[in-house]
Amino acid sequence: MATVELKQLKKVYNRKVEAVKGIDLTVHDGEFLVLLGPSGCGKTTTMRMIAGLEEITEGEVLIDGVSVGHLPPRKRNVSMIFQNYAIWPHMTVFDNIAYALKIKKMEKSEINTRVKEVAELSGIESLLDRYPDQLSGGQQQRVAVARAIAVQPLVFLMDEPLSNLDAKLRVQMRTDLKEIHRSTGATTVFVTHDQSEAMSLADRIVIMKDGAIIQIGTPDEVYHNSANRFVADFIGTPPTNFLSVLVGDKEEEGYRLKGDHLDFTANHPSLAGFEGKTVLLGVRPENIDVLPEAPIEAICRLIEPQGSHNIILAQIGEQRMKLSVSPDIGLKIDQTFRLRLKSGHYHFFDPETGERLDK
Ligand SMILES: Nc1ncnc2c1ncn2[C@@H]1O[C@H](COP(=O)(O)OP(=O)(O)O)[C@@H](O)[C@H]1O
Ligand SMILES: [Mg+2]
Repeated sequence: MATVELKQLKKVYNRKVEAVKGIDLTVHDGEFLVLLGPSGCGKTTTMRMIAGLEEITEGEVLIDGVSVGHLPPRKRNVSMIFQNYAIWPHMTVFDNIAYALKIKKMEKSEINTRVKEVAELSGIESLLDRYPDQLSGGQQQRVAVARAIAVQPLVFLMDEPLSNLDAKLRVQMRTDLKEIHRSTGATTVFVTHDQSEAMSLADRIVIMKDGAIIQIGTPDEVYHNSANRFVADFIGTPPTNFLSVLVGDKEEEGYRLKGDHLDFTANHPSLAGFEGKTVLLGVRPENIDVLPEAPIEAICRLIEPQGSHNIILAQIGEQRMKLSVSPDIGLKIDQTFRLRLKSGHYHFFDPETGERLDK
């Protein structure tokens, strides 16, 4: 197994498109690391530089402490899995998995054992004699996974491997990939633009935007302690709600916060120095309580039932926010109700830079 280090890694295409802007990152041995960010933020470019499929403009990639910038892909000991499976149509499943092992001149009996092992791990042991066109998309992707595992690389690189699968299968494959990772313990870098996929798979998530790293943290950290407005908005469905509030003077129970149809106090040390200024309050949908005596009046505009909970679109003056509440609360459309932010479960953000104030 191995570590992967990126040092000031940079990619400029055609001398003008700065796709990756000098990023620093260490992937720990055995870690499942997810690169997450919107389309065009430089995820694929980063992966391709690690794999050796894209020339590095500046900086370094180290695998197990060895700089690999000058090595071709096959000498880097990495396996890459793409969105479009890329398994060979003219070979059976068995031959697809065995191909790289034959090239390595592995013994026939050893190849048989290895192929059976990884096929079992990937749940395709009954499909070894089939050709790719006799397989579903999900099965084809399992073959790609099995083929990648078979060569026992130092590092797995997966670029949106689940994007071509339908929603249900995608969720199923997540679980399977996680189990495979648990049993192989292989250092993995996984790219996705899907925050819920990132949350469910990652040991740590690296959030990228415009070729730069915005935050690195465990799923819990990036969710509960988002570094800035971008992350708070990108992670979570529905995302964090933002309310614009004017910070008043400090009173006994905390700072007086006023906004459109808002007037309440919050005890938050990060507000010191912001008296008289407007800040953004960010609160997640599940951190809002609906209570008859709560301080904030809202109108229920829409209800999205999710079975286990309801998503309520609430209007407070001109501002709107989404709440995740128990269906038992029984709100009706256009009903006026009262809500309260759960103490200690909200953050403040600088309205100009978007940075969290209480970092
Ligand atoms: N071969 C290329 N030539 C020029 N620009 C490219 C090339 N590949 C990617 N880009 C640009 O680099 C940026 C990052 O792309 P990419 O790494 O594919 O992002 P992501 O995988 O996060 O969607 C984008 O602006 C994209 O248009
Ligand atoms: Mg991409």
